[in-house]
Amino acid sequence: MEGVVMADSADSFPFSDGPLASQPPEFVRRRQQCPVSHVTLPTGDPALLVLKHQDIEAIMGDDRRFTRDLSDPSAPRLFPNILVLEDPELMMNMHGDDHLRLRRIIASAFTPRRAEKWRDEVRAIVDELLDDVERMGPPVDLMANFAYRLPTRMVCRLLGISDDEGDRTLGWVAAWLSVDAIPVEERDKAAAEFTAWAVALIEERRANPQDALLDHLISARDVDDRLTEGELVSMLRGLIIGGNETIANAISRSVLSLMRFPERWEELLANRDLIPKAVEELLRFSPPGGGASGLLRLATEDVELPSGAGTVRKGQAVLTPLVAAGHDPEAFPDPEELRFDREGKTSTMQFGAGRHFCPGVHLARVELQTVLAALLDRFPKLHLPVEPEELPWSEGSYGTSLLGLPVAW
Ligand code: HEM
Repeated sequence: MEGVVMADSADSFPFSDGPLASQPPEFVRRRQQCPVSHVTLPTGDPALLVLKHQDIEAIMGDDRRFTRDLSDPSAPRLFPNILVLEDPELMMNMHGDDHLRLRRIIASAFTPRRAEKWRDEVRAIVDELLDDVERMGPPVDLMANFAYRLPTRMVCRLLGISDDEGDRTLGWVAAWLSVDAIPVEERDKAAAEFTAWAVALIEERRANPQDALLDHLISARDVDDRLTEGELVSMLRGLIIGGNETIANAISRSVLSLMRFPERWEELLANRDLIPKAVEELLRFSPPGGGASGLLRLATEDVELPSGAGTVRKGQAVLTPLVAAGHDPEAFPDPEELRFDREGKTSTMQFGAGRHFCPGVHLARVELQTVLAALLDRFPKLHLPVEPEELPWSEGSYGTSLLGLPVAW
């Protein structure tokens, strides 16, 4: 590939994260020296690592010249043995007309107006969960007792599933995202359990319909024949993964960032109008997936990248880590500073771009804004009772997550 500099150090992706699961230092080095560089993926497949905001935005927004369909057996793979990337019926892994067909089915459930309608219910759930946290007394692990519980409940409300059923889904999410955190047999058992659960749930709802997203999906299948039975099960899987893990990690990483920079917490205490901006900046600063976030795309023709860093050749795989986009100093000056007064309209890219742009974006914003407001209202003296460096982080999964977040108030 023209213009692409071969990095001079070991090129095995992913690279080690920086302190507190921040952007890998190798990204900083490469962005300066070779913003498009060759890497070897954990599967042994080659890919181009793209680290400039401008190029990442252009690639993710260009559905014509970059495809997410890697179903061809000879196509490169990001990780070996990771179920979520292997399901060809999952919308996230589809391209073109089939992908659009599925997006259209769920579109009406994810409009900004629908998300706004959830706001009061989100606050009620947040308050109920924080009542539990308060009752437990400090220190409380906010990750297990709050960050995971809120999005699980919201996905349940969205789909019309009981909270108890929702709690069962968490183990399945971990199994789908496991690279080697969970032994393959256990992971496959969990995946099979989900499928049996989903098939039974869909049958039950065919017999006793409600008026939730799951019923809408079933009707799209049964009445209009707009998706297959397999796609219906995979849609359920995609919504459960998309709705849970990202939000849980966004909450815990955002709280950690605010606790590390108490002056930003004080700023929000003094001015709640900053909350929407704070949510975007916190996502940029410490995005849910960390250094390995982002999905592979394949070039369907030669593409010259807008930064001038090089030309991607037809058939090459590109990897566009979202944390790299949010930490490009050309797009966000002093990217390691957490600031709620950033000017301009530059997208942090944390919800993607193009046709795969996160459908849950509006709901996610409502959830995260509500969480910040409730924590500020109820726990103005929130703090970490341990040093941030002592916090445990996950290994062996797609994305780095906090395993626990003790807080006191
Ligand atoms: C902070 C929270 C969230 C973040 C940062 C996030 C981020 C993203 C990103 C970056 C993508 C695009 C991936 C790509 O094209 O490479 C995506 C897709 C997706 N997200 Fe989200 N998401 C969040 C919350 C949610 C929620 C709450 C839901 C649903 C309830 C959801 C459901 C999905 C689905 C189904 C897709 C696949 C869309 C497609 O392939 O067309 N996400 N998300």
